[in-house]
Amino acid sequence: MIIVMKHHAPDEYIQAVVDKIRAAGLSEHVSRGTERTIIGAVGDERVFSPDAFELMPGVERAMRVVKDYRIVSREVHPADSVVQVRGQAFGGKAIQIIAGPAAVETAEQMAQCAELVKAGGCRLLRGGAFKPRTSPYAFPGIGVAGLEQLRQESRRHGLPMVSELLDVRMLETFLGLDVDMIEIGARNMQNVGLLKEVGRINKPVILKRGPSATLTEWLMAAEHIAAGGNHNIIFCERGVRSFEPSYRNMLDLSSIPVLKRETHLPVIVDPSHAGGKAWMVPSLAKAAIAAGADGLMLDIHPDPANAWCDGEQALNPQDFRQLLGELAALALALGRTLA
Ligand code: E4P
Ligand code: PEP
Repeated sequence: MIIVMKHHAPDEYIQAVVDKIRAAGLSEHVSRGTERTIIGAVGDERVFSPDAFELMPGVERAMRVVKDYRIVSREVHPADSVVQVRGQAFGGKAIQIIAGPAAVETAEQMAQCAELVKAGGCRLLRGGAFKPRTSPYAFPGIGVAGLEQLRQESRRHGLPMVSELLDVRMLETFLGLDVDMIEIGARNMQNVGLLKEVGRINKPVILKRGPSATLTEWLMAAEHIAAGGNHNIIFCERGVRSFEPSYRNMLDLSSIPVLKRETHLPVIVDPSHAGGKAWMVPSLAKAAIAAGADGLMLDIHPDPANAWCDGEQALNPQDFRQLLGELAALALALGRTLA
């Protein structure tokens, strides 16, 4: 930690800071300038919070040297991490596409979606069984039956399954059904209890960005998971709450290069929940890949006009196939490939 003293702080204030550092078992490095004195606390700085020094007389400011999201940070893990999901790699050269319905509705609908995903060459299948709805009266998902139908199609086509764990009380059910990757939804990004529980299991996790979360809050949410031992975390940018009413969320493309700089973990994008409108998805999806995303999560539906949830943002089969072709060409132009 670095402590900057105020202009011409007297020696007794400097000594008080040094004494505090030593009392915690760390050593100090004092650098006296012509106008400022800077004190370095050498050792594990996690024993202090910057506030502990900033409240002391004569201290102007204190700042950590090591990022607080230390497991997740690229500082301690410079090379990219590759997260494996039942043999499908996220974070390597190949771009992964997860696709499927926002919500599993019926066995037939799930089967149709799975066939579209398989035929499109995507490697993972998503389907919501427990839906976090704004209204308590809106379709909440079909629950465990949805997981079972998703699982049936996942195993039929050899596509690892992804579904949102809304309530920590369902974790054992998810594990029992061998869900391949657990999605922590945007609304649950700072549900610390849920984060800690998925941090204790050996199962890949997609961590969606909260609708109003800063990047540091998002990185720290991932650190909550990683601190439990589970480092198989994939960040998913899905847009943030904005002032603009003409689309659902504002896709923050800037988060992609910033996160790729800040963390070694993979970063994917969900353009469906970002724009909230199917006609926007192709543009947002291509922009995300061009900006360096390691993958996409796409909502599809055989008949979006009659979808039970989020139909407006779901790609119909034709548009889905069209987009996959464009993404394959874009990946090649970027020196990458679709998985
Ligand atoms: C699911 O994918 C939906 O985005 C989520 O449940 C919120 O939907 P709503 O705000 O329209 O209820
Ligand atoms: C979803 O992916 O089904 C979902 C609810 O997304 P988000 O949490 O980003 O709104």
